This record gives sequence, structure tokens and C-alpha cells, in this order.
Amino acid sequence: MLIIGGPASNNLENEIADIIGMRSLKVDYKIFPDGESYIRFPEKLEEDIVLIQSLFPPQDKHLIELFLMIDTAYNLGAERVIVVVPYMAYSRQDKRFLEGEAISIESILKIIEKLGTKYFLTVDIHKENSLKILSIPYTNIVPTVLFAEKIQELNLDNIVILSPDAGGIGRVRDVAEKIGCEYDFLEKRRDRISGEVRLRPKNIDVANKNIVIIDDIISTGGTISLAAKQVIKNGARSVYVLCTHALLINNAVKKILSSGVKEIIATNTIPNIYSKISVAPLIASVLNNLFK
Ligand code: R5P
Repeated sequence: MLIIGGPASNNLENEIADIIGMRSLKVDYKIFPDGESYIRFPEKLEEDIVLIQSLFPPQDKHLIELFLMIDTAYNLGAERVIVVVPYMAYSRQDKRFLEGEAISIESILKIIEKLGTKYFLTVDIHKENSLKILSIPYTNIVPTVLFAEKIQELNLDNIVILSPDAGGIGRVRDVAEKIGCEYDFLEKRRDRISGEVRLRPKNIDVANKNIVIIDDIISTGGTISLAAKQVIKNGARSVYVLCTHALLINNAVKKILSSGVKEIIATNTIPNIYSKISVAPLIASVLNNLFK
């Protein structure tokens, strides 16, 4: 088995290959003057290959690169292509919120499957249910064990773990049970037209507690900064933020830190200075089981 990193792999292929004890390489890539993507596999392919390509911005470019890689791998003789997408773009457009909208995540997953993918692996997709559109086997890795380890390293007492919305309650429950602390969720509403986020006031005892807010994605930072402000207003001693996918668009970091958050910690599904937790061991473990 050969593990191949695409242009947006964040070098996870090297980390994973080291853990499993296998070979890795990176595709050659460039952009033509007109903006089109170019992909070349620099050597002969083996029967089984793992392609790693995250889908952080520019998502559409990274998607096209992924499509070119899957299709070309089969053209060049691969028999089984396993696709690993650490950050799955478009996962929040998982239903028709307004009449006539594309269910984008379904369209993209259908293309990935149609190109011949034999197994699909992703990390903390916004809604695991979206993967049910696939008829190939898949795994969604939720890095709660890594979050629990990181929180323990922070050496805090009186911890309450919070999800900024009801949808994330499973994630925070899992982490809280691993470290033995309290957990709860806030009540978030998003306006489907303007995108504006509001939090309903909720009575949670956060006074003098160290709060860790965990979310799957931080995009503009609006959700996290509202949540931080609410708990600080209610007397929280400190607020830390953990997330799987730190998109951190525009001035998200400034917005979050100025709302009183002490530290932002994310996994390395998206490269940036906050990506302090590697998901490589969890991906390696799934791949190991696949090829046992
Ligand atoms: C949405 O439900 C997600 O779980 C995140 O809460 C959301 O994507 C965060 O977006 P933003 O940072 O723009 O508020």
C-alpha cells in the first residue's frame, strides 16, 4: 500500500506513513496561468493506494485536484483507491434549508464514489448522517480522545465542557465522560438568509468554572465569540476553545480572542498556527485495520 498526499494534505501522508511503517509520496502539482489545476503522479502506482486531500479553502480547487487524483490513479493502474478527506468541505449544506437549494455535501460525495473510491474516510464531518448517501464503506473519525488528552494537559480544575449548539452534545458528552467533568450545550439559532447567529440565554452554572467550548468547525468565529461572551458574563473563570476544523475566516481569531477566550486549539485537518493536535494516529489506526 502506498500513501499519497495531494496538494492539500497538510503533509499528513508522512505522519501516517511513519506510524504505519509504509511508503508515502506527494503528487506533483501546479496551477496553469489560466487557473486550471495540474496533477501528476511522480512514479508507478501500486495496487492499493491511499489518497489524502483535505478540502479547506480554496475548497473548489482542492476538490478538482481530488477528482483528478482519484480518476488518474485508476487510469495508471491502481486497483483500490482509498480516499481520506481530513476536512470535508460543504458538509454544512447537508439539507435543503430553503426551497431549490443544492444539498451540496450529497452531490460531492456522489462524485467521489462515482470516480471509483473503494473506501472513504473523513474526520468529524458536520453531520455523520450525510455519509449515508454513500454505498461504499466509510469511517468518520471523531477526535474526542485527542480532545480529552489535550484538556488534561491544560491542568484545569472545575471544568465544564460546552457545545455551542444542541447538535454538538454527543461530542462534548464523550469528551466529558473521558475526563470526568460536567458538560452542557447552549441554544443557538442561525438566520438562514443573513447567516446571523443568536444564542438564547440559558441557565448553566458556569460561575468560577473553567469552560472549554468544543465545536466541529470554527469559520467566522461568530458562534464561539457569542458563546464565550455569554459564559464570561455569567462568571466563568476562564474560557478555552477546542475545535476539529479551524477555518478561521477573515478576522475570526481577533473576534474570538477579544471575546475573552484564552486559547484556541484545533486539529491539523486544516493548516494554521492553532492546529496543535494531530489526527494522524487516528487515521493510521483505521487504515491499519483496513489492511490487516
Ligand atoms: C455549525 O453548526 C457548526 O457546528 C459551527 O458552529 C459553525 O460552522 C461555526 O461557524 P462560525 O464560526 O462562522 O460561527
